[in-house]
Amino acid sequence: NNNMVKICCIGAGYVGGPTMAVIALKCPAIEVVVVDISIARINAWNSDQLPIYEPGLDDVVKQCRGKNLFFSHEVEKHVFEADIIFVSVNTPTKTCGLGAGKAADLTYWESAARMIGNVSKSDKIVVEKSTVPVRTAEAIEKILTHNNKGVNYQILSNPEFLAEGTAIQDLFNPDRVLIGGRKTPEGQKAVQTLKDVYTQWVPEDRVITANLWSAELSKLAANAFLAQRISSVNAISALCEATGADVAEVAYCIGKDSRIGPKFLNASVGFGGSCFQKDILNLVYICECNGLPEVANYWKQVIKINDYQKSRFVSRVVAPMFNTVSGKKIAVLGFAFKKDTGDTRETPAIDVCKGLLGNNASISIYDPQVTEDQIQRDLTMNKFDWDHPIHLQPMSPTTVKQVSVASDAYEAAKGAHAICILTEWDEFKGLDYQKIYGNMKKPAFLFDGRNVVDVEKLREIGFIVYSIGKPLDPWLLQDVSVVD
Ligand code: NAD
Ligand code: UDX
Repeated sequence: NNNMVKICCIGAGYVGGPTMAVIALKCPAIEVVVVDISIARINAWNSDQLPIYEPGLDDVVKQCRGKNLFFSHEVEKHVFEADIIFVSVNTPTKTCGLGAGKAADLTYWESAARMIGNVSKSDKIVVEKSTVPVRTAEAIEKILTHNNKGVNYQILSNPEFLAEGTAIQDLFNPDRVLIGGRKTPEGQKAVQTLKDVYTQWVPEDRVITANLWSAELSKLAANAFLAQRISSVNAISALCEATGADVAEVAYCIGKDSRIGPKFLNASVGFGGSCFQKDILNLVYICECNGLPEVANYWKQVIKINDYQKSRFVSRVVAPMFNTVSGKKIAVLGFAFKKDTGDTRETPAIDVCKGLLGNNASISIYDPQVTEDQIQRDLTMNKFDWDHPIHLQPMSPTTVKQVSVASDAYEAAKGAHAICILTEWDEFKGLDYQKIYGNMKKPAFLFDGRNVVDVEKLREIGFIVYSIGKPLDPWLLQDVSVVD
């Protein structure tokens, strides 16, 4: 019954691109057009070199591009023709003005909504795919209906729960699809229309419907809960180091409780990515605006622990190296915010590298998916600017001189005093650490921020090893009082 439904998605980013590619693959009768104001991004989607690295994505795009999946910069034309319009634009943290550093910046969303209002001549279902503050649908409704020319709009909330690095798998087999809509007959009809799209491949009992505000808030709450688990285990990791417990063992033990569950309990150098911090800040801001400072402070603490974990890591690096890394070469393995992505938005590597640079270290970075340009841009950009589209950012005129980018891990570590592992790329597990050790300055240090290496083996080779939340090397026990 979805014959000839036309879908247009505004925003060809990490969410819009993969999500629409999977809808096109699973629903051959639906024509899907992804539009973006960035011509460079659209051109990349139409080329052999897709603008994002995501396992399995190339394959899906190749199967449907040119058949029922199209990428275009003719935004207005395709919005005009569509029945269902997904809005998947970026909703970064505001950098200035009211709510700066906290509130979601809805500039991109509002301009997309106004454009929809301007060009539409037929009834539209407008789907919030972006993560937005609760009650955004009401604001969007106002923009659309105040510019009404006899067109009927139904606004739905359909937040996306995919994680980068596993986006295709997550989209093929989601834990749930959430659709929020108005309880009116028209609202429920729109919900059903979108439900009919997803049930082409998602089992019906996994498609959850809710009221608009519950759907919008569930996305912010889900990310806050997930991030909170990481901050909880990271807080415990600090206590493990102080007491000789092993955070991996503790996580395993608590995860065996079926009420807690085993997933998402890996201690790390801190969580990164474009979503967690931004969405918690947004949640905190909404709580404050609703007169709930206690609730706001509760969630703020999740970010504070994450910041603490990153700066604690830098101190752990500098302290045992005789309290100075000035002029010393430090190899950084991994720059992306997690493995299997080239995405560096809010990666903990940025804060750690800036911390090391602040101690005058010279760093040599290797990441299998991140380009030198991207690294230089990340290390020179102001906080939060990253989340505004690249094409709107001036290219950084300066580069950080103490930073070099290596083409593999061996080159990065050559002549270095220390190695920091900041992303859990699989290839870092299988490196020839004996060879690496041979080419390093002694004593050779290795700081594992991702629980990647076999600590015992590396100690046998001769490395002084620090691994987050693990019993400390005798060398590190000498400076238990790491203070900043
Ligand atoms: P992104 O920056 O990769 O993509 C957004 C795209 O929208 C950009 O290419 C930009 O050029 C385009 N755009 C902005 N304004 C536009 C306009 N008026 N018209 C046309 N195109 C416009 O962002 P993303 O990572 O895909 O995230 C999009 C939304 O999805 C955000 O709200 C984010 O919070 C949410 N989200 C992201 C993830 C994730 O893993 N990245 C997961 C779930 C939800
Ligand atoms: C997250 C949510 O998981 C996803 O549902 C939502 O749609 C978008 O935000 P993403 O940020 O892409 O996805 O990746 P995720 O796997 O959640 O990892 C986020 C960060 O937490 C990464 O830096 C990761 O390394 C870190 N992490 C994750 C840990 O440090 N420990 C863990 O146990 C899990």
